[in-house]
Amino acid sequence: MPTIAVGGASGKIGGATLSALLAHNLVPASSIIALTSSRPGSSTFDALAAKAPGLRVRHADFEDAASFEKALEGVDRFFLVSTPHVELDFDRRVEVEDGSGKWEWQEVPDGQGRERHHRVAIDAAARAGVSRIYYTSLAFAFDRAAKRGKHASKAGVMRAHLRTEAYLARQRAAGVFGSATAVREGLYAESWPLYLGEFAADGGGRDAERTEVPIAGDGTACWTAIADLGVANALVLAAPGGEFDDRTFYLSTRAGNTNGGGNAKTVSEIGALVGKARGKEIKVKVVGRAEHERYYVEERGLDAAAVRWWVGTYEALEEGECEVDDGTLEGLLGRVGMKPTRVEEVIGKMVKRV
Ligand SMILES: NC(=O)c1ccc[n+]([C@@H]2O[C@H](COP(=O)([O-])OP(=O)(O)OC[C@H]3O[C@@H](n4cnc5c(N)ncnc54)[C@H](OP(=O)(O)O)[C@@H]3O)[C@@H](O)[C@H]2O)c1
Repeated sequence: MPTIAVGGASGKIGGATLSALLAHNLVPASSIIALTSSRPGSSTFDALAAKAPGLRVRHADFEDAASFEKALEGVDRFFLVSTPHVELDFDRRVEVEDGSGKWEWQEVPDGQGRERHHRVAIDAAARAGVSRIYYTSLAFAFDRAAKRGKHASKAGVMRAHLRTEAYLARQRAAGVFGSATAVREGLYAESWPLYLGEFAADGGGRDAERTEVPIAGDGTACWTAIADLGVANALVLAAPGGEFDDRTFYLSTRAGNTNGGGNAKTVSEIGALVGKARGKEIKVKVVGRAEHERYYVEERGLDAAAVRWWVGTYEALEEGECEVDDGTLEGLLGRVGMKPTRVEEVIGKMVKRV
């Protein structure tokens, strides 16, 4: 029985994966190691340990390579959940070197964005002797975008993932791991508030009166419930050796085509669903990149670097980067008698009527 380490085990995707490994009895709890940057004795650490008798919990912090190496001792399969520290990716404001006092935006060099955290974990896994590594990438850069080249995505959120995939591929080619798998996780159905101009998650509250959402561009994504991703990841991790080795695939599907487009929906369509669920219409207005940046920074007070990082997401959507139709998710869920959760169901649970 392989020993499996689950990164980000206290978080959404790592937590859903850990829960699914346990709930579906895919491996005994004693074969699982849950990783957290929290310390023994903290509430997060104790809550993880309480999830199942026999489950081991270990401290591993992306800022401390030694902690990762120690945590991965004796591990055969490592599920590397990407770091949530997105601020590492933001372009930096730097002064132009002409003495004019002007400044410009500068892209974070390869190795210094979020991929820095991932490299720490990958290198530690190599030193610890992990044989199979699975990385949670993201479901952008599909199809048309992929044809532009493997590093091509218009989405700032995808840059660190592509850099990490490339680093992992280099390590694999150098024989560091027995296999390296990139799981391009579908866009969370639960993350619609982010795509809908940071809308209040319950569709009410501070946004109860909001009826118009400007966005830089629109396009289709195949929205995927986090719990479904957890089950699929767990099945991938527990699968007999070989099945998912050295593959790059998407956990994202249009599934349910007969049902009004299934989970393939534009941001405007998501806006309409949220409007219906809360009982007050939301109009999504495509305004282009410059107006999007101006609106969210000047009128809604968001951080300029964060908005700049996020805005390319809409251009990527427009290009069809997230129109992913990969049968892997449906196939995996089918193994445990499940079907992809409908995005309407996820929205319905999150939104309150106003
Ligand atoms: N597919 C999508 O649509 C989508 C949507 C949102 C985010 N994501 C990406 O998915 C990844 C995981 O996100 P999530 O949704 O599971 O987020 P989350 O719920 O915020 O979980 C993040 C996890 O990272 C761990 N963590 C934080 N700082 C750490 C550190 N210094 N060292 C090691 N672990 C650390 C946290 O655990 P401890 O505090 O216990 O260490 C937590 O378990 C992120 O890269 C995020 O950008 C994907």
